[in-house]
Amino acid sequence: SAFVALVPAAGSGSRMGGTTPKQYLDLLGKPVIWHTLRALAAVSRLQAIHVVLSAEDEWWASYDWSLFDGRLVVHRCGGATRAESVANALPHLGAAGTDWILVHDAARACLRGEQVDTLIDALRDDEVGGLLAAPVADTMKRAQADGRVCETVPRDGLWQAQTPQMFRLELLQRALAAHSAVTDEAGAVEALGLLPRLVAADATNFKITYPQDLALAAQILRAREA
Ligand code: CTP
Ligand code: MG
Repeated sequence: SAFVALVPAAGSGSRMGGTTPKQYLDLLGKPVIWHTLRALAAVSRLQAIHVVLSAEDEWWASYDWSLFDGRLVVHRCGGATRAESVANALPHLGAAGTDWILVHDAARACLRGEQVDTLIDALRDDEVGGLLAAPVADTMKRAQADGRVCETVPRDGLWQAQTPQMFRLELLQRALAAHSAVTDEAGAVEALGLLPRLVAADATNFKITYPQDLALAAQILRAREA
């Protein structure tokens, strides 16, 4: 089968603050998304890497992407939510019905190519598909509106969903068309009554969300180069 990556990069990064969307903030001299794309480009089984930008994106064009030539396809059809950005791009992927789509957040710049290979190997014969995830380390509390704990959620069996999330194009299209109020692709697939498979990954594949996350990402990437 064929494997294609889809990178939603049309968000505004409101939790990061500032005017530049977080995918374009500097990380070791390159924009955050450059590191993300480099990790995906290292996976030779990915035939193409599709990027979804906002129609108003004014940052992408100011960088040199020639390193990724031939594999990178840019779509300026981002939507109001991540799920919408992904759904808008799916019809443009031009892949056959049996192809696998690996949706990966632009903001997960510390992805390792080997984790993607592990994901593909684990799921390529799966009926449903699935996602990278890491076991929850902290004790989880549910809070009331006033900030008081009303419940301790047993952490046993709890995982933090990461990306890539790998599903067949046809299923992904059907799931997102029926269930658009989701925060990840797996959520839409689950809403169809299917059970995506978790593939264990490590916490270094975290999502850059808050300002302090940039220093952590820089540290992780630098340590790998050493
Ligand atoms: N994303 C997108 N289209 C949107 C919203 C998000 O393509 N309408 C992308 C982001 O660019 C990011 C990924 O989805 O790469 C994960 O979303 P998130 O971390 O929530 O990014 P933002 O929505 O940009 O950040 P925030 O929620 O803090 O505003
Ligand atoms: Mg968001």
